Amino acid sequence: MATLTAVKMMKAVRMHGYGGPEMLNYEEVQCPEPGTGEIRIRVHAAGVNPVDWKIREGYLREARKDPLPLTPGWDVSGVVDSIGPDVRRFMEGDQVFSRPDLLRNGAYAEYIVVRESEAAFKPRKLDHVHAAAVPLAALTAWQALFDGAGLKPGQTCLIHGAAGGVGSFAVQLAKWKGARVIGTASARNQDFLRLLGVDDAIDYQATRFDEILKDVDVVFDTIGGETLRRSWKVLRRGGVLVSIAAAPSEEDSNQFGVRGTLVNVQPNSGQLAKIADLVDSGKLKPFVETIFPLSEAARAQELSRSGHTRGKIVLRVL
Ligand SMILES: NC(=O)c1ccc[n+]([C@@H]2O[C@H](COP(=O)([O-])OP(=O)(O)OC[C@H]3O[C@@H](n4cnc5c(N)ncnc54)[C@H](OP(=O)(O)O)[C@@H]3O)[C@@H](O)[C@H]2O)c1
Repeated sequence: MATLTAVKMMKAVRMHGYGGPEMLNYEEVQCPEPGTGEIRIRVHAAGVNPVDWKIREGYLREARKDPLPLTPGWDVSGVVDSIGPDVRRFMEGDQVFSRPDLLRNGAYAEYIVVRESEAAFKPRKLDHVHAAAVPLAALTAWQALFDGAGLKPGQTCLIHGAAGGVGSFAVQLAKWKGARVIGTASARNQDFLRLLGVDDAIDYQATRFDEILKDVDVVFDTIGGETLRRSWKVLRRGGVLVSIAAAPSEEDSNQFGVRGTLVNVQPNSGQLAKIADLVDSGKLKPFVETIFPLSEAARAQELSRSGHTRGKIVLRVL
């Protein structure tokens, strides 16, 4: 005789179409099951990033194989509640954080399934809300500064958007590496930049950075557009412009004798584990500006979309 197993349900935010914040629905859906090499996380908190509303508006639409509806949210902290076959590093009850795959369902939900290779043990010193603010932004800053630009101790690094999600980690990581750090932000964030540890803070609305800086070794651009274009001339010959916002033009990089590179963050559990160690040793800290309940994901995304977040926005799920 066939036995009926109860289907586990959960609350999740899903989008059924591309467009504005009204596309996000808070609903009851089936809980995902972990496959081979995957873990299911009971989500305690989900970080909010600009890529969330960009995907809502259609970014990566062509690359995505799974049809809608889609659950956004690609930063998570929580507790492993189920493991699939061949999972080696985690067991039920482990506290983990992760930057999941952008092409799969995200963490605006009570449960998420991620690959084991996308997760690491969460920093012990942080609660889940603060841990959820870390993976995507800190991994991006790490990969841009160290893998993309090869930043070295003693070098001078200019960080655009230094008060934002990625920038606030980038300032701390560049200082930890032993670089001299110059950060840009508006007037209201100048004190915050100093708290993060910059050697010099520039108010980009009051001062044109390209009129006062030269011979910089590395520019980290999180803004793009005119900010990127004006950045070439502040670099020394042989310097590096690393952007996460737009692909630097090859023509400009040749003209100025510098290297331009675009970094797209990749999941990396080894780097995530190093980042967790830095947090636990007090060398790296997330700054969370606003916390929303899961049901207010649309408001959280609109705040992110304003482009003036200080540090991070997080959804509390549990
Ligand atoms: N390629 C990748 O893998 C990757 C990964 C992560 C993020 N990103 C992209 O990188 C960008 C930044 O991400 P994020 O999470 O850091 O965003 P965010 O937290 O929303 O950044 C907001 C910050 O940008 C600052 N800002 C705005 N205009 C500025 C300007 N002209 N000059 C200097 N600072 C300015 C704001 O400071 P004020 O309020 O003081 O103006 C604010 O603190 C986004 O476009 C995101 O999609 C790409």
